[in-house]
Amino acid sequence: MAKEAALFLRQFLTNPLQVSSVVPSSRWLARAMAQGLGPNSGRVVEFGPGTGVLTEGILAAGVPPENLTLYEMSPSFTKLLRAKFPKVTIHNAAAQAVVGDMKPGVSAVISGLPLLSMPLAVRESIVKAAFDILAPDGVYVQFTYGTKPALTEEQLAKLGLKVSAGPKVWLNIPPARVFHFRRA
Ligand SMILES: C[S@@+](CC[C@H](N)C(=O)[O-])C[C@H]1O[C@@H](n2cnc3c(N)ncnc32)[C@H](O)[C@@H]1O
Repeated sequence: MAKEAALFLRQFLTNPLQVSSVVPSSRWLARAMAQGLGPNSGRVVEFGPGTGVLTEGILAAGVPPENLTLYEMSPSFTKLLRAKFPKVTIHNAAAQAVVGDMKPGVSAVISGLPLLSMPLAVRESIVKAAFDILAPDGVYVQFTYGTKPALTEEQLAKLGLKVSAGPKVWLNIPPARVFHFRRA
């Protein structure tokens, strides 16, 4: 764990905008992000897994590792993730690469990406990519450290999405809010 925390901090110092946090998420946030997932959830995708805290939450909820696919940009995190989760499919690629890689019909995209640190157009392209592969009733789950979701009202309307606020997780540094995005 200490090694992973050190790797996380090093990755933050090397690429602060991409990592955007000095410590990984807590297991309480991981549990909240994976709420509603289970053995029969079908295919699940995770964006920006880092050291894999949310991945552990998804697997602990019962999603079989064969049904889980990760997209992580950092080669160092990808190497660690491949060692920790040998049965999970792991791409060292940007989240947007999911389009073309994955067949549509995915039930959930769990995102640990620092969307609020990204320009609005990039946020929109990432959420759009998620909905390009999500099933009609699929859900995009995103936490933020702010009070608002990562897309504006205009962007939600443009993409045909609605958002609902999930739990606030106080046991996280900093406290985080979970948001669920679905087709309107
Ligand atoms: C705030 S960290 C969160 C890590 C982990 N999900 C957690 O909650 O502890 C953001 C992660 O997203 C990755 N990342 C940033 N932009 C990305 C992108 N466009 N596609 C895939 N991964 C990305 C970073 O390398 C980092 O691992």
